[in-house]
Amino acid sequence: MREIIADWSPEIVIHLAAQAGVRYSMENPAAYLSSNLIGTQTLLEELKGSGVRHILIASTSSTYGGNAFLPFQELHPTHQPMSLYAATKIGMEALAHSYSHLWDLPTTCFRFFTVYGPWGRPDMALFKFVNAIERDEPIDVYGYGRMMRDFTYIDDLVHAVERLTETAPARGERIGAHDSLSTIAPYRVVNIGGGQPVQLLDFIDAVEQALGKNARRNMLPMQPGDVVATSADARLLRDLIGIIPSTPVDLGVAKFVEWFLPYRHARSGEALLAG
Ligand SMILES: NC(=O)c1ccc[n+]([C@@H]2O[C@H](COP(=O)([O-])OP(=O)(O)OC[C@H]3O[C@@H](n4cnc5c(N)ncnc54)[C@H](O)[C@@H]3O)[C@@H](O)[C@H]2O)c1
Repeated sequence: MREIIADWSPEIVIHLAAQAGVRYSMENPAAYLSSNLIGTQTLLEELKGSGVRHILIASTSSTYGGNAFLPFQELHPTHQPMSLYAATKIGMEALAHSYSHLWDLPTTCFRFFTVYGPWGRPDMALFKFVNAIERDEPIDVYGYGRMMRDFTYIDDLVHAVERLTETAPARGERIGAHDSLSTIAPYRVVNIGGGQPVQLLDFIDAVEQALGKNARRNMLPMQPGDVVATSADARLLRDLIGIIPSTPVDLGVAKFVEWFLPYRHARSGEALLAG
C-alpha cells in the first residue's frame, strides 16, 4: 500500500474493498475484522500526510441496523448493528472519522443500498434466483417475501460515486439541515439509494418477467441479521450531486438477465475447455 501511494500520489481514493455480505459474517467474523477494519485502517494510515484531496469509502445501509425510522437518514443513530458485517462497517466509519479529524483528510463514506446488476457478487439473491428459476429449482424466499429493499442499480451507483468525487467535505461547510457533515472533521456520510423500496416478492416478479418463466417459491422466515426494510433518504445525495438512483427494478433486472445469461454460458464453456 505504501509503495502504491508513493508511486501514484493519488488525489482521489475510492475504497470499495471489503469482506461483504451479511450471512457469511456469522460463519467467518474474523474475515470481516481483517478486511473491513484492519484493511481500512492500513489504507488510511498510509494516506495520512499524502496530500490526498478526497477519500471515498463504501459503507452500507446495514449500519442502520435496528433503527426503526424509515427512510434512513444519515443523521439517524447507528449504534444497533444487527450483523457482524454491519458492526465492522460502523467501526470502519468511526476509524475514517477519526483519521479525517486528526489528519485533516476530506472523507466521504457512502452507505450503499442493496446494489444489483451485471458483475455483482454471485452470493447475492439475484444470481441465485436466476440460476434456480432457469433450472426449475425452487428459490428460497426469506421473510416470506415481505422484506422491503431499496434496490440500487449498479449504473446509478457508479454515476453517483463519480459525481461525489467532486464534493469533498470541508469543515464548517454544511449544505443544509440534513447534511451529515461532522461538526469537527471534514467528513460526511451519504446514502446512495433512490428511496423507492420494493418488496422482495415484486423483485421476484421482475425476475420472472425478465426470464419469461415462473419461480417455484420456498417461503421461509427471516434470517438472523436481516432487517425488515431499508429505504434511503436521498435528500443529501440529491443536494450534493443533483440526481438520485432511479432505474426501476423491472428495467434493472432485465439488464442483469441480458448480461448474465450469455456470461454464464461463456463461463460454462470455459470450464468445459479447462477440462
Ligand atoms: N453489493 C451491495 O449490495 C453492497 C451494499 C452495501 C455496501 N456494499 C459495499 O460495497 C463494497 C463493494 O461490495 P461488492 O458487493 O462489490 O463486493 P465484492 O466482494 O464483489 O467486492 C469486494 C472486493 O474487495 C476485495 N477485498 C476484500 N478484502 C480485501 C483486502 N483485505 N484487501 C484487498 N482487497 C480485498 C475482494 O477481493 C473483492 O474484489 C464493499 O465495501 C461492500 O461492503 C455493497
